[in-house]
Amino acid sequence: MSLFITFEGIDGSGKSTQIQMLYEYLQARGYPVIKVREPGGTTISDWIRRILLDLRHTEMATTTETLLFSAARAQLVIETIRPYLFDHGGIVLCDRYADSTYAYQGYGLGRDLAELRMVTAMATGGLQPDITIFLDLRAEEGLERKRVKQQPLRRASLTNSWEIEGPADAVPQGAATQTPEWNRLDARELAYHQRVEMGYRELIAESPERWHIFDARQSIDTLAQQIQIAVEPMIEHVRLLEPET
Ligand SMILES: Nc1ncnc2c1ncn2[C@@H]1O[C@H](COP(=O)(O)OP(=O)(O)O)[C@@H](O)[C@H]1O
Ligand SMILES: [Mg+2]
Repeated sequence: MSLFITFEGIDGSGKSTQIQMLYEYLQARGYPVIKVREPGGTTISDWIRRILLDLRHTEMATTTETLLFSAARAQLVIETIRPYLFDHGGIVLCDRYADSTYAYQGYGLGRDLAELRMVTAMATGGLQPDITIFLDLRAEEGLERKRVKQQPLRRASLTNSWEIEGPADAVPQGAATQTPEWNRLDARELAYHQRVEMGYRELIAESPERWHIFDARQSIDTLAQQIQIAVEPMIEHVRLLEPET
């Protein structure tokens, strides 16, 4: 038995932090587990990620962007996720998945949800997560955490999709300087992130059985424990790795 767990939530809600902690926890308990992030995770997907990240591509249309995200997802599902789940019987932890497309391109940008579902069905071959961990944080707080973090983030056209964390060398020097005051761009981002936040709530209401919701304002350790408890009944069916001899 395999297990496919996705992590969702707005930027800054703690997905990367918690996915790493769950990964280490499951590994320590002897489970076959991998973690992947979108977009990326394969050689081809990482190239697509670079195209999405490239600061020079300011003219990128949202249609192009949506299809590139989907193309990266298709390759990740075919090359990595499906084999690990179905040939290997392992646990796959995925940092963002199809729900991010619906929340960001759909609710955030107002693109047609039925159309996004079609593209996503093609990209994933219909593969759905067994469970989705949702880190619940208000848009305002997520943006605040991001500001505090002061990490270089791409500011150009991708403020329209979900934010992509890039390596420092992907951003020209000085491009990520953060101003302490709340400026016009921040305000636009806030309205956008609020739509995304609302979108997540609608997605949860559509299929509540798949989602596990956590208050992301709790401490990192408390959250990690709660997530471990939530996945416990699911991992019982996954076969442990053979001890090395
Ligand atoms: N439970 C938490 N409480 C306070 N700060 C947190 C918590 N979880 C993560 N952070 C911090 O918030 C920032 C964003 O976390 P991260 O895991 O990168 O979020 P995401 O991957 O969802 O964008 C980081 O600086 C991280 O250290
Ligand atoms: Mg992250």
